[in-house]
Amino acid sequence: GIDDILIITGRGKKAIEDHFDRNTELETELHEKGKDSLLAEVLDLAGLADIHYVRQGEALGLGHAVSMARKHVGDQPFAVMLGDDIMDEHSTVLIEMIEAHEAHGAAAVIACKHFPREEISAYGSIAHGEEVAPRLLPVESIVEKPKPQDAPSEWGVMGRYVFTPAIFESIDRTKPGAGGEIQLTDAIGGLLPEHTVYGYTFDEGRYDIGSKLDYLRATVELALARKDLGPEFRAWLARYVKEQGIA
Ligand code: G1P
Repeated sequence: GIDDILIITGRGKKAIEDHFDRNTELETELHEKGKDSLLAEVLDLAGLADIHYVRQGEALGLGHAVSMARKHVGDQPFAVMLGDDIMDEHSTVLIEMIEAHEAHGAAAVIACKHFPREEISAYGSIAHGEEVAPRLLPVESIVEKPKPQDAPSEWGVMGRYVFTPAIFESIDRTKPGAGGEIQLTDAIGGLLPEHTVYGYTFDEGRYDIGSKLDYLRATVELALARKDLGPEFRAWLARYVKEQGIA
């Protein structure tokens, strides 16, 4: 149901803007050649949502990047989606987080996934109380990329968040943290004295394409799931695996 998207981008990332832009030359060419189904596909993409861009002039951290959205967001709740956390298209995690936000009211609902302790250092991690509703954990504290032995739990923060604009004031108060950057995790921690924050737990359908292995896994699994490419890709992959003696 999200039909207004602000993409926070920066120097050297023009390809993102071009990708979502209308391409009138291509549209005209497809029209003239009678390639109507391709034309419809191209126009569908353009009609998906209103897409806006703001550039983060200096890479001062994820919290700082999110603060770039302040004027666009105004006084409404909004969702933050990190571009390197890809969710399967059938995933309903963000919808459920928005519903949880509407039902329980909180300054933030953040997606959390369970990891073995030795992997938690790649993520933000939460300490939490008893589940208040299915999948909903009240956050008591949050820390960015703790050492495994210091992690408050085995719940890692994933790149999906629902916020009220209260997060912007908290980002303003947040000093540079891990890596010398203004961390979103620290700004979420800054909400805790006055506001409720929930972790929304889920398990399936998330790929961290910042990790090379997960990038490859996403490419293969999502290609196999596609109606158009899937069957042919599956047949090729099966042949390849057999020929190479992989399985
Ligand atoms: C960011 C956040 C981190 C979160 C992670 C999820 O880290 O700072 O809290 O767990 O995304 O992917 P990054 O992956 O940008 O280093």
